[in-house]
Amino acid sequence: MKFSIKTGNIAGIEAAILAVGLFEEDEAGVKTLDEHLGGVIQDLISRKEFVGKSNQVAHIPTLGKLPAGRLLLVGLGKRDALTLDKIRQAGGKVATAARDAGFKVLTTPVLGEGIEGLPAPSVARAFLEGVQLGSYQYNRYKTLDRDKFKSLDEVVILAGSDADHELLEGALGEATAVAEAVVFSRDLVSAPPNDLTPSALAAAAQGIAEEYGVTCKILTEVECAELKMGSFLGVAQGSMKDEPPRFIILEYMPLGADVKPLVIVGKGITFDSGGISIKPSEGMEKMKYDMAGSAAALGAMKAIAALEVPLNVVMLVPATENMPSGDAIHPGDVLTAMNGITIEVVNTDAEGRLILADALAYAERYEPMGVVDLATLTGACVVALGNHAIGLMGNDDAWIEKVRQAGERAAERTWKLPLWDEYQEQIKSDIADIKNSGGRAGGTITAAAFLSKFTKKYPWAHLDIAGTAWDDKGKPYVPKGATGIGVRLLVELAEELAEAGEESAEA
Ligand code: BES
Ligand code: MN
Ligand code: ZN
Repeated sequence: MKFSIKTGNIAGIEAAILAVGLFEEDEAGVKTLDEHLGGVIQDLISRKEFVGKSNQVAHIPTLGKLPAGRLLLVGLGKRDALTLDKIRQAGGKVATAARDAGFKVLTTPVLGEGIEGLPAPSVARAFLEGVQLGSYQYNRYKTLDRDKFKSLDEVVILAGSDADHELLEGALGEATAVAEAVVFSRDLVSAPPNDLTPSALAAAAQGIAEEYGVTCKILTEVECAELKMGSFLGVAQGSMKDEPPRFIILEYMPLGADVKPLVIVGKGITFDSGGISIKPSEGMEKMKYDMAGSAAALGAMKAIAALEVPLNVVMLVPATENMPSGDAIHPGDVLTAMNGITIEVVNTDAEGRLILADALAYAERYEPMGVVDLATLTGACVVALGNHAIGLMGNDDAWIEKVRQAGERAAERTWKLPLWDEYQEQIKSDIADIKNSGGRAGGTITAAAFLSKFTKKYPWAHLDIAGTAWDDKGKPYVPKGATGIGVRLLVELAEELAEAGEESAEA
């Protein structure tokens, strides 16, 4: 998608289609335009055909009364209820409405700009994120009728003044860095599991490293064995010969090796069949999205590096399939993780926690300022929170709160669940230190209780994104399918930690 910025006035601008925002019960903003149009907008409002509710749209042909051929009215809701996320939604809405109506070029001011309490650069960034995120389509595997696909090729952003123009340039740069990272993440999740293998995931990480000068290390199964990652390799065992695992590391260290990093860990199961504890076949194809945690981690690294956030950040992704075979682990097997903890595998479908165990143990060597892991870890999280909240747990309330606030700012909201000691009882094993399933009760929490055995040396927060990484319905800036959730939360967190670090360095 191409962007350009034009300084001009909304009633005087030439355009095939021009977006105009309208607040509910507040028509003052479109009065001048409506005078040119002979009161068409007021008429729509009086008939209650269009009242300006959030994400409501109406197409208005201007019949030569304005230089713009058509207006795309979009509702912004009540003026005093406007938020950055509603602005992001409006961005998604105008882009998809223009595209679906067959337009290739959209002209639009930053909708929602100039509202008290919302800083202009943040408003512009949110709107331009929404435009790009809403336009996302995954057509890589479609070969038929490609010429009939609709797409928006260009967006002309309307600036009110030269000062505005400059602000928009900055916001556009930031929004594009973030949106490209989310799209990168969605593309990985959307890709089919025969192509998006552990090695392909590693190649994606290498691509980021080359583009931004970040250090990338890919550990093979041999190196993982030397490190004694018995828990990770246990899961990988079932496809070792056909599709070997990879342990992927990215190190972005702009502050030098002496400053403690943020460590991001992402679950990278490129296909979860369940292993010997095999899943039912219905819906199993969706288990290609079991690497969404790793996709979020990779996307975040891409954005953080592109934005040159002044913070050391390390990413760890254990990547493997979870498959049944003659070599696969059995229910009943005991594995030893790299920190020596022994694990009884009572269910091979609880594989996410097994691969994260070694990654979280590996994280210790970085002496992290804090660790965040993201994983499509439990079906129980989908049951508990549905598709609108990320499950949040951890071992340090201050760190958890930082992550929660980042989620609020990004509108990738989290909900904290209790990780009390009582839950640890459920994962005690008769034969080993712990077992990998605590049964049905509190399944999201007992999965986190398992992970907590590997996170004793640093502040840690766990994000269960099983319910939020895939959306069957879609939202204004999230087309149905892979959402790319987590990327924007992590970018917000990194930006906040960088700012706090700079402040304490000054003090
Ligand atoms: N990847 C699944 C969790 C999942 C389920 C993600 C649905 C997205 C949608 C995970 O590996 C899994 O299978 N978990 C089991 C754990 C159980 C065996 C203790 C589950 O949730 O059923
Ligand atoms: Mn599983
Ligand atoms: Zn899984």
